[in-house]
Amino acid sequence: MQRLSNPEIILALDVSTLKEAERFVDLLYPKIKLFKIGSQLFTASGPDVVKMVGDKGGNVFLDLKFHDIPNTVYCSIGTGSTISIVPHQVDVGEEIEDNITFPVFMMTVHIKGGRPMLEAAVKGAIEKSNELKIEKPFIVGVTRLTSEDDSSDKLTEVLQAAQLAKDSGLDGVVCSVLEAAKVREVYGKDFIIVTPGIRQGQVTDDQKRTATVKQAVKAGSDFLVIGRPIIQSKNPLKTTEEILGDLYGAGN
Ligand code: C5P
Repeated sequence: MQRLSNPEIILALDVSTLKEAERFVDLLYPKIKLFKIGSQLFTASGPDVVKMVGDKGGNVFLDLKFHDIPNTVYCSIGTGSTISIVPHQVDVGEEIEDNITFPVFMMTVHIKGGRPMLEAAVKGAIEKSNELKIEKPFIVGVTRLTSEDDSSDKLTEVLQAAQLAKDSGLDGVVCSVLEAAKVREVYGKDFIIVTPGIRQGQVTDDQKRTATVKQAVKAGSDFLVIGRPIIQSKNPLKTTEEILGDLYGAGN
């Protein structure tokens, strides 16, 4: 996937069945084109759910937050890069071709895994995508979880983690909106910033370092990850439209 010039919403499909995930994709695509599959849904449905999203035209942020020995992360990132769809054969003129796409556009690793692990992740993505002649997925590193308390050290910790991510060849980081502006200032426009912990109102669930859509855009976030505010809404479509209204209006 090409780097986007405008910030985009990623819906966190934090549900426990493929059927539920499909219901949200059917309801919200193409208003939302990017879907995050994390450990909850991937544990339940595995690659099938990635294929489902890709088959419907969406792209997948595979958020499995790898943190393991370098070789395991190298192999896992390689496998994740190439989850493909071959659900049906399509008639292309006279010929029948398999419908193969590679919907995973971004994956995560924990920066705490250290430089050898981070470099192994990047190597896994580069080698697999070169081998299959596909676009390399973005590899972004988790700095500190948005569920952790804000503290005076948090910004320093996030910036140190971002430096390690940059030095190791990662495409960017996951951080809270509270640190995003500083990360953008230090690392410039080519460094991807992914921000979870987006909340429009008072309810923050287990998230501690939260901010609104407008604040996230102002801070320079590229991808705003939103889960429960949409997934648990009484009217997910209406909530999505309101959020998109805020997103498109945020630059004004
Ligand atoms: O429901 P909510 O909007 O809080 O969902 C946020 C999503 O972002 C969750 O899927 C969570 O796993 C993920 N995430 C996060 N903080 C990070 C990295 C990922 O909340 N640092």
